[in-house]
Amino acid sequence: MIPTFPSLLLIPMPGNEPLASALAAQLGAQLGTIETRRFPDGESYVRHLSSVQGKAVALVCTLDHPNPKVLQLLFAADAAKDLGASNVGLIAPYLSYLRQDRRFEDGEAVTSVTFARAVSRHVDWLVTVDPHLHRYGSLDAVYTIPGLALRSAPLLANWIKENARSPYLVGPDIESEQWVAGVANLVGVPYQILRKERLGDRDVRVSLPDLDAFSGHTPVIVDDIVSSGRTMAAAVLHFTSAGLPAPVCVAVHALLNEAGVLELGRLGARLVSTNTVPHPSSQIDIAPLIGSAIAASSWMAGAHPGKAKPV
Ligand code: R5P
Repeated sequence: MIPTFPSLLLIPMPGNEPLASALAAQLGAQLGTIETRRFPDGESYVRHLSSVQGKAVALVCTLDHPNPKVLQLLFAADAAKDLGASNVGLIAPYLSYLRQDRRFEDGEAVTSVTFARAVSRHVDWLVTVDPHLHRYGSLDAVYTIPGLALRSAPLLANWIKENARSPYLVGPDIESEQWVAGVANLVGVPYQILRKERLGDRDVRVSLPDLDAFSGHTPVIVDDIVSSGRTMAAAVLHFTSAGLPAPVCVAVHALLNEAGVLELGRLGARLVSTNTVPHPSSQIDIAPLIGSAIAASSWMAGAHPGKAKPV
């Protein structure tokens, strides 16, 4: 039996209402509301419409296209503390600003560090799904608050088992290996990792897979993030140019716009993603994963947060 958390108040930031409602139902938690709007000069207005006094508050805010969302989120977190919340956490199914994890060119801002520092100053704990931890070993490497990094691999593996005939997995770059290897292992199928050269934000070259290995298989490209869609598209082209079936593209976080979706569609590829970011390709629901993790970690529902291990 799943425990209930009547003292946990889940507050969805704009656009996160469906996830917050699903979590509230799963956890027996309260669902709060917040008012946000823009002043004519572009500044943000934030008002808690639910009483947060004495409650453990979890702000639900996925952080795709983060810049317009982040200030509102930090204002909401600070206001909740100011109004007497016992602690304030963040459920961010997609956690932004992890890819700039070092200075690739002289003078660049290492935005992952600055962003993590800002979030860590304003919230007490963090739950996310498959953060892009490439050079960082864990969230603890940049965040100073307890954080849970949930893994969607079992959900991706189930979807692939149910929907792809004789799948053979492909990772479009070395960074994808951690996700591809985990999913391939759960599905019980082989995988190949390609090499990627990024020449610009939307200019990507991906090495040629060993196409002979795919005979009789459905190629399934797995990556954590699909952003412009160019990485997936470059990998897809290798298969379609060789007359092989267009791959199924499976991503954890779908950030791409309509043009990117149309481009993959034009190449014959099908894109499937989780709903860490609500998207037309979202077919894999992560709400139960997050709900179960919260249910299993009592510190999130109100206990004073201690240092928690990623699950
Ligand atoms: C990068 O390391 C990520 O894992 C993705 O491969 C990347 O973000 C995809 O970007 P895009 O869709 O813009 O090619």
